[in-house]
Amino acid sequence: MLGVSGSIAAYKAADLASKLAQAGAQVDTILTRAATQFITPLTFQSVTGRRAYTDDDLWGSEAHVLHIGLGHAADLLVVAPATAHTLAKLAQGLGDDLLGVTALAATCPVLVAPAMDAGMYAHPATQANVAALRGRGVTFVGPEAGHLASGLVGPGRLSEPATILGQIRYLLTRGGPLAGRTVVVTAGGTREPVDPVRYLTNRSSGKQGYAVAQAALDAGAEVILISTVDGLPLPAGAQHQPVETAQQMADAVLAAAAAADVLVMAAAVADFRPAQAADHKIKKESGVPTLELAANPDILLAVADQRRALGRPKVVVGFAAETDDLLKNAQSKLERKGLSFIVANDVSAADAGFAVDTNRVVLLGVDGWSETLPLMSKADVAEKVIERVLRVLGEPAHMDADR
Ligand code: CTP
Repeated sequence: MLGVSGSIAAYKAADLASKLAQAGAQVDTILTRAATQFITPLTFQSVTGRRAYTDDDLWGSEAHVLHIGLGHAADLLVVAPATAHTLAKLAQGLGDDLLGVTALAATCPVLVAPAMDAGMYAHPATQANVAALRGRGVTFVGPEAGHLASGLVGPGRLSEPATILGQIRYLLTRGGPLAGRTVVVTAGGTREPVDPVRYLTNRSSGKQGYAVAQAALDAGAEVILISTVDGLPLPAGAQHQPVETAQQMADAVLAAAAAADVLVMAAAVADFRPAQAADHKIKKESGVPTLELAANPDILLAVADQRRALGRPKVVVGFAAETDDLLKNAQSKLERKGLSFIVANDVSAADAGFAVDTNRVVLLGVDGWSETLPLMSKADVAEKVIERVLRVLGEPAHMDADR
């Protein structure tokens, strides 16, 4: 259910409705009277293929049941854009229009995306309404800071449809088979400083790790994403812990793993770092430098030690990126690092491994099973990994194929 109120940002709600419909959602739209000044119900009907309602419907033939029906049928009520007036109405529980009465009748979670002038958003009355709604469990997305229609710069802009969509995805998946479980995922290649402007790293893009984080979120988990990546959109709902070096990643992983159910080490951890990072930029006048390297900690080995003491995480998954003897090397890492299973991937193939969006992997389990997967998107590989995690945890492995 999408509620649209009267803001200049209402046009973005049509894009949101369109993206939701494309993702397979059945979107019923309610426009407030002010919203119809900016955009028509026909726009929403065209992109969703379903009725869009206005206050005229409140007084129509279905009047006494429409809002109850809409409110009860909804899995989620999204109000985007939410004006200061609509926030006030939702906070006070006013039922003087179709959106107001439907919100009162709805029993589902509510997501609100405010859009208004920065001064109106900062007003104590609006802030009190936001606090009241938050206190009732309403989730907020935005507003973002930026240039506003009034010419002011500040928080008030409606979040981008893709951002709102991410929050919707998060809220709709909370009841999944990993609900109540914490999954720690690492992603990206570590960066080992040589001097203040240079570092040693590798070709890992972090895409496979981000996809695993998204798949775990889709299964209902709380996700801690420990990553070196800055160019990828963060999956909505993930708790992000940015790190740079292998040592920082080791510290973050060991701390998070102590209370986690699952650890998926998709990061490409540098085995070596410059023994001494220079304090100042190394200048070429000083001649060609010799770089002495020191060994980094093996994070999975450290996790294995901690796991023997704490019994957590229950499931530990490693990745093996290999160019030769894929299965033999992966099998030995599986055993040596005490993993539940390992995702072996041949990074010498052009369509698999680093930077590309597809991957070809074999899953190898500690108790002898293996699963060879065909070439597929990293998102699909991630879903297969999470399905396996569910199986190892002994949870029913059903996942909603649409999400
Ligand atoms: N890994 C780790 N700590 C390291 C190196 C790797 O925890 N210092 C993890 C990776 O995140 C991955 C798995 O171990 O899940 C295998 O990584 P890989 O680099 O293939 O293995 P290495 O043990 O480094 O072996 P080699 O580089 O010799 O192939």
